[in-house]
Amino acid sequence: MKSFFVSVCFIVLSIAMYSQSEVKLIVNGHDPKTIISKHIYGHFSEHLGRCIYDGFWVNDSMNVPKKDRIRLDIVEVLKKIKIPNLRWPGGCFADEYHWRDGIGPRKQRPTMINTNWGNVTEDNSFGTHEFLELCSLLNCEPYITGNVGSGTVEEMSKWIEYLNFDGLSPLTTLRKENGTDKPWNVKFWGVGNESWGCGGNMTPEYYSDQFKRYAAFAKNYPNARLKKIATGPNSEDYNWTDVIMKNIGSRMWGLSLHFYTIPTGSWAHKGTATAFDEKEYINTMKNCLKMDEMISKHSTIMDKYDPEKKVSLVVDEWGVWTDVEPGTNPAFLYQQNSLRDALIAGTTLNIFNNHAERVRLANLAQTINVLQSLILTKGNQILLTPTYYVFDLYKVHQDAKLLPIQINSPSYNNGDVKISAVNVSASQDSTGAVHISFVNLDATKTINIKTALEGINWKTVEGKIITSAKFTDINTFEKPNTVVSAVFKNARKEGNDLLVELPALSVVVLELK
Ligand code: AHR
Repeated sequence: MKSFFVSVCFIVLSIAMYSQSEVKLIVNGHDPKTIISKHIYGHFSEHLGRCIYDGFWVNDSMNVPKKDRIRLDIVEVLKKIKIPNLRWPGGCFADEYHWRDGIGPRKQRPTMINTNWGNVTEDNSFGTHEFLELCSLLNCEPYITGNVGSGTVEEMSKWIEYLNFDGLSPLTTLRKENGTDKPWNVKFWGVGNESWGCGGNMTPEYYSDQFKRYAAFAKNYPNARLKKIATGPNSEDYNWTDVIMKNIGSRMWGLSLHFYTIPTGSWAHKGTATAFDEKEYINTMKNCLKMDEMISKHSTIMDKYDPEKKVSLVVDEWGVWTDVEPGTNPAFLYQQNSLRDALIAGTTLNIFNNHAERVRLANLAQTINVLQSLILTKGNQILLTPTYYVFDLYKVHQDAKLLPIQINSPSYNNGDVKISAVNVSASQDSTGAVHISFVNLDATKTINIKTALEGINWKTVEGKIITSAKFTDINTFEKPNTVVSAVFKNARKEGNDLLVELPALSVVVLELK
């Protein structure tokens, strides 16, 4: 009798635990309207550390496939993830960059000091023509940031003429002499960078006036209507957004937002990229999730001035920023990349997708060897980071229609910190295929998700997963395949519902057809 009672209790308890841990998700497929702009999946390449030099652009003597000095093995892996745009030349560097130094015969180009990033000598061998050649090889849109901090209105205006004018002028003649006949028609145009900080320590009122001056002379040439992007807030500076929206409004195409995930929350001791415990892990994820709240609050302010959502929110710098790898130049911002960083990427991209009505461009900082990189290099070797694989899986969302979701995520707790364990986004592409990306941030629990797909007919499900045993797991040049994507088998159809067993610490992308 006693053992019968124990068995019944065990069964009841198991059922209760199962249903407690089964999370309900609704994906709404009725009449989707909002497009997830492919430009949300953009990247960033600054003259900083080894991103351009010894990253994209290498010495003639390096034994790798190259076009001029552009590494083609890097071009190839970035094309595979369908990189939609590349931001350049900074960052802080943009506000001390003078574009005329980077054109013409390389041997005659002047050098300069890169004062923001270690006072290294910049030889200007990678300039306008080289960057646009890189974008053409990548088949992506260039996003150029002009110099407001230490440049002039005339300098920016002439750069745009050099880039985008097809008629006869002294600058187009010079461009032709430098080997490029036809204009590049660059459209994404940043009017300064972090003008509240390294870009000139301006107030939002002062910057608004500067924007208007610079923007007035940043001309639209035929086939190159500029999408002008104003310096936006630093993280939670809601006053900046309010003043800029009030003063600039629809004169700008986009308002930039910069927000970095700092593991410890302290700029002085940010935390290491590879050695952290669960307490630091959950705190990092809590900081990363602030992106959602921040976008919502900035969007609410933008809605006040722009209810039709004409102005885009452009998150053109985001990612995890840790202490540099021991023994590397602190000004070069070289950091390793772990499974935790893949979870940050998956979570942040889900946030952007779900805010696609307002967020129409974003750039992870930075593509190679700097901050949350997709690629690390050592001599002629390249290494794909866990973050790279997230962009590879998520490319299916590019230019697809957002499917709104509803989820009551269980929480994941450690000590007194509590966060949502699961985040999700979904889209439908032009062929009708539905893609759902799931992230399980819980460090120990598998989470069972039952998804109701409203208004969606589907027959098959296939998927890929990125996971590993520990959140600190990384890829190295010696062991490059520790955190990569693999086939995911734990998703199945039951009626019209989708049942998924989402392992702890995983990013999963499913395709339903
Ligand atoms: O991405 C590194 C730096 O971070 C950028 O140069 C600057 O814009 C930001 O502060």
